[in-house]
This record gives sequence, C-alpha cells and structure tokens, in this order.
Amino acid sequence: MSFTVAIDGPAAAGKGTISRAVAAHFGFAHLDTGLLYRAVGRRMLAGEAPIAAAGALTPEDLSDPDALRTAAIAEAASKVAVIPEVRAALLDFQRAFARRAGGAVLDGRDIGTVICPEAEVKLFVTASPEVRAERRLKELRAAGHDTDYATVLADVLSRDARDAERATAPMLAAADALTLDTSAMTIDEAVAAAIAAVGARR
Ligand code: CDP
Ligand code: CDP
Repeated sequence: MSFTVAIDGPAAAGKGTISRAVAAHFGFAHLDTGLLYRAVGRRMLAGEAPIAAAGALTPEDLSDPDALRTAAIAEAASKVAVIPEVRAALLDFQRAFARRAGGAVLDGRDIGTVICPEAEVKLFVTASPEVRAERRLKELRAAGHDTDYATVLADVLSRDARDAERATAPMLAAADALTLDTSAMTIDEAVAAAIAAVGARR
C-alpha cells in the first residue's frame, strides 16, 4: 500500500532534515526533489539546454548529492525550475516514487500542490529568512565554502522570490497542509511535530 508524505517549503527551512527523520521513523523511502532540479541546473552550467537535460537525467546525476549542494547550483536549479517543460519532464518519476509500495516522503516546493495533491500528509515547513540564512551559512562553511551571512541571505531571498512568483508550480502551502514554522524550534522539536502529524494519519 502506498502512503505519501509531502513536505514543501523554502530553502533551508529544515525540509530535508525532517523528511529523512520521518522516513527513518516510519520505514518510508525518501526523495529530495530539489536534487532533480539541481542536477538539471548543473548540466545547464556545463552547457546543456535545460529541457534536454531534464529529459536525459540518469541515476548517475544524483549519485553524489553533496556535490549538488553548492550555492551556484542552487541558483541554477531555481532558474531551470521556472521552465514548464523542465518540470513536466521530472513529473512522472516523482509521481511514481510517491506511489511506491511501503510509503514515501518527498520534499520540495510543489509536492502537496502539483506532484501529489492526494498525499495522505502535507507539511509546509518554513522559518524566517534570517534563521534560514544562518542555517545555510553554517552548512556551507562546514562543507568548506568561503562565504558570508549577507551573501547567503541575499541568495535565499532571491531564490524564495523566484520560487514563489513563477507561473508554473510556484512554492505554495497546499490548502490542506499543516504549516510548521521551525524558526524557534530545535531539530528534535521539529522532527517530533512532523512525526506526530504523520502518526495521526497512519
Ligand atoms: O531541506 P532544507 O533546505 O529545507 O533544509 P535542511 O537541509 O533540512 O536544513 C538546513 C539546515 O538547518 C541543516 O543544517 C539543519 O541541521 C538545520 N536545521 C536547524 O538548525 N534547525 C531546525 N529546526 C531544522 C534544520
Ligand atoms: O535545499 P534547498 O531548500 O535550498 O533547495 P532545494 O530543495 O535543493 O531546491 C533547489 C531549487 O530547486 C529550488 O530553489 C527550486 O527553484 C527548485 N525546486 C523546485 O522548483 N521544485 C521542487 N519540488 C524542488 C526544488
């Protein structure tokens, strides 16, 4: 039987952390859909046309997720993500993942609204831009990237705006999503709230 948990929200809100914990707790599979757009963005930076790149993704493109988590690739991802044909090319893979037997958690921007409107549980995970920039700065520094708070905050704000304002599948809380503002939450608190929300529907 399938059971889908849709987790959407802006950059560095805690979607991935919560998704991994929920998946581990319930034994579900997890797909970070941002990696698909990042992989297309990386191919675009290497000179490929984005629509062709989206149609040509292979498991190899996703084999080293850490290599996709740079600021330049995040920016490229949000640019290819506004192209309707890119989104369309990635749709079937995400829908099939969502409906796999045994349960699935998908995190992204449009999971509860477009990819899986029938998801059993929908969460919209958010936090203030300042808190998210602090979190992302820490992560980038830990990974050895030389950057500063002002740069990271500007990146987060410009990506939020592009994601929220695009015409196709904008970042949006589904009408039936539970919003989780993690600004003042520890990771443990945010994870516990998400597990409780999923547990209530199991
Ligand atoms: O997937 P998304 O970009 O939404 O965020 P993430 O990668 O799960 O989280 C971004 C960073 O914030 C990670 O380093 C988390 O450990 C941290 N975080 C946090 O400090 N407090 C939370 N309540 C959630 C995440
Ligand atoms: O980790 P973070 O939240 O910073 O970004 P991500 O989830 O890896 O997504 C990178 C970019 O891909 C986002 O800024 C969006 O433009 C795009 N994206 C999307 O349009 N739809 C999704 N379901 C997931 C990501």
